[in-house]
Amino acid sequence: MSTRTLLQINTSLFAGHGQSSQLADRFVADYLAAHPGTVRVLRDVASQPLPHLDGARFSAFVTPAAERTPEQQAVVAQSDALIAELKGADVLVLGLPMYNFGVPSQLKSWIDHIARAGETFRYTANGPEGLVTGKKAYVFATRGGLYAGTALDSQTAYIRDFLRFIGIADVEFVYAEGLAMGAEAKDGALARARDSITRLAA
Ligand SMILES: Cc1cc2nc3c(=O)[nH]c(=O)nc-3n(C[C@H](O)[C@H](O)[C@H](O)COP(=O)(O)O)c2cc1C
Repeated sequence: MSTRTLLQINTSLFAGHGQSSQLADRFVADYLAAHPGTVRVLRDVASQPLPHLDGARFSAFVTPAAERTPEQQAVVAQSDALIAELKGADVLVLGLPMYNFGVPSQLKSWIDHIARAGETFRYTANGPEGLVTGKKAYVFATRGGLYAGTALDSQTAYIRDFLRFIGIADVEFVYAEGLAMGAEAKDGALARARDSITRLAA
């Protein structure tokens, strides 16, 4: 049996206690049980945040390798390691809380460090081409309010479009919404999300 790798990216401010992390954990546990031989790699971008992408870091990315200063080499090495981790995975699991109508800023920093021309995407005469292929992604989106399927859902299109841009087109979203709308709404949303997880992980 060949080994498969599952990369779990947690992004909650509450680390493993976040609702999104807990749903992702539950999916991963079920997935590992249903797919023996799968190895999980966990990256928690909230507990171990990446710096914001700034001008100095971006210019390290676009400086030819032979001309990079030691500082620029270190910046690129960190980005290269994140990209290798992503490319080495067969399955991507993403915990995705909604914070202030957007994705967690630490997740945006991760995205900014793996979006590299020539590494994860390239432009061709036919438009952009993703270079991170052959993967399936599962996204566990948690929100205090209700947004899925409405114009206020700023996250779903963004994450779907970005993943497609780098080559990951097969993406499943599981939502737990209304988590700040009382115990009944919260319990019901989490129970429905858990049902979806059981179905998806099989
Ligand atoms: C800083 C912060 C900002 C939030 N902003 C929103 C928001 O804009 N919309 C919303 O529906 N819920 C919002 N919430 C509620 C979270 O989406 C909800 O608590 C969710 O469970 C967070 O996922 P987590 O537990 O994995 O961190 C916010 C929570 C925090 C802590």
